[in-house]
Amino acid sequence: MKPQLDYLQMLARFGVPLPEAGMPDCDVIDELADLGEAGLMPVTHPRFFGWVMGASAPVSVAADWMVAAWGQNAAMHSASPTAAAVEETAARWLLEIFDLPREAAVGFVTGATLGSFVALSAARGSLLRRVGWDCEADGLFGAPQVHVFVSDDVHASVLSALRYLGFGERRVIRVDTDDQGRMSADDLARRCAACDGPKLIIAQAGQINTGAFDPFDQVAQVARANDAWLHVDAAFGLWARVAPDLHPLTKGIELADSWVVDGHKWLQVPFDTGYAIVRDPEALERSMAITASYLPAKKANHRSPSQLVPELSRRGRGVPTWAALKSLGRSGVIEMVSRHCRLARQIAAELAQVPGILVMNDVVLNQVILRFGKQSDGAEWRKVLAEAVIDRVIEDGHIFVAGGAWRGEWVMRISVISGPISTEDAYITTNAIRSAWSHVSAIQRDDAAG
Ligand SMILES: Cc1ncc(COP(=O)(O)O)c(C=O)c1O
Repeated sequence: MKPQLDYLQMLARFGVPLPEAGMPDCDVIDELADLGEAGLMPVTHPRFFGWVMGASAPVSVAADWMVAAWGQNAAMHSASPTAAAVEETAARWLLEIFDLPREAAVGFVTGATLGSFVALSAARGSLLRRVGWDCEADGLFGAPQVHVFVSDDVHASVLSALRYLGFGERRVIRVDTDDQGRMSADDLARRCAACDGPKLIIAQAGQINTGAFDPFDQVAQVARANDAWLHVDAAFGLWARVAPDLHPLTKGIELADSWVVDGHKWLQVPFDTGYAIVRDPEALERSMAITASYLPAKKANHRSPSQLVPELSRRGRGVPTWAALKSLGRSGVIEMVSRHCRLARQIAAELAQVPGILVMNDVVLNQVILRFGKQSDGAEWRKVLAEAVIDRVIEDGHIFVAGGAWRGEWVMRISVISGPISTEDAYITTNAIRSAWSHVSAIQRDDAAG
């Protein structure tokens, strides 16, 4: 299960010289469909487990088509009352379903990377204002230093967001984590105690490999004791909060100052949709607002989407989210998230029985990581084995998975996050991996013998 053609082959197909003469619209679309098909990744398939990607539910895709067909600019309520009102409603529903402070502001962005950029920009302004520095007016040159704390297993996108904001990756203070990638609140407290001045702490809900959650209660206590801003990268983990059986994982997350979560992951909204949620709307607006005489002035109870995100002209990104939540309802989201996590546990439990396969994480959410080979094989050889199993399952065509590094091992990463996946799909998945592993380990034995 993979694209028939790779990037360079697709480039050869598409990369013709700029046409001088045009062609009929229908022919353009037919040609696009014909040419494009072979290079499509089966992201919307129920057994696509690559990276952490949702499956674009048909209802949200249809809503997204309407966004494009309506041709609205969602920058401000006066330019598109519909786009602004739908977004405002979707924002309210998100705060309700996540049970986060209802007064928080929600910016609709392209994804968690930009969401962190937006929320951390609000954090930067707020923290510096507390020590008498107006960062929005005077910038960062000569500003007091903000100490930034991240876990040692932070997602790479958070470091990028920090870089865009002028914090610099090298200046970030890394906090110890445990074997699942959870931040140590004790180590955080120690490191905070060693620094004077404004502090920004970034925690995580849903570590990209293990799905682990930081101990938010304890982390929030440290944040409070240090008058720090607490941001949570919850790109997919915040959805756990919706399901009663998973809700305890997020205990204390509501104490943070900002959160980022994706719609294009667990909500099955098409790319690109993420949400930057900031407890203090004024901090967010100060960092993002665009003002000009020709733009409407801020008006009470009137949402102008561009006041909360970096863009002015933008698509009505809230519309597919509105459609997804309308279609699923709270109960549908609970059912989907719980089912995915149950199936992840099922896949892990079955594969844990197979000699030579080690489940490397506690499967608390939807992420499963697998090591292939014995301890005595050594990490280098185990990487060869994992890559061979990944290639084999992809060739066999029943599932798609990808690899990654975790604690010095190359692992197969399985992210159960495709809307329609069923129990039957989970069985097909374990059989596919078991069979690929049996093939790869047999070759290994044959090679060793011969
Ligand atoms: C934990 C975490 N944070 C941030 C991101 C970045 O999200 P996006 O690709 O939507 O920008 C991801 C993506 O997988 C993630 O898993």
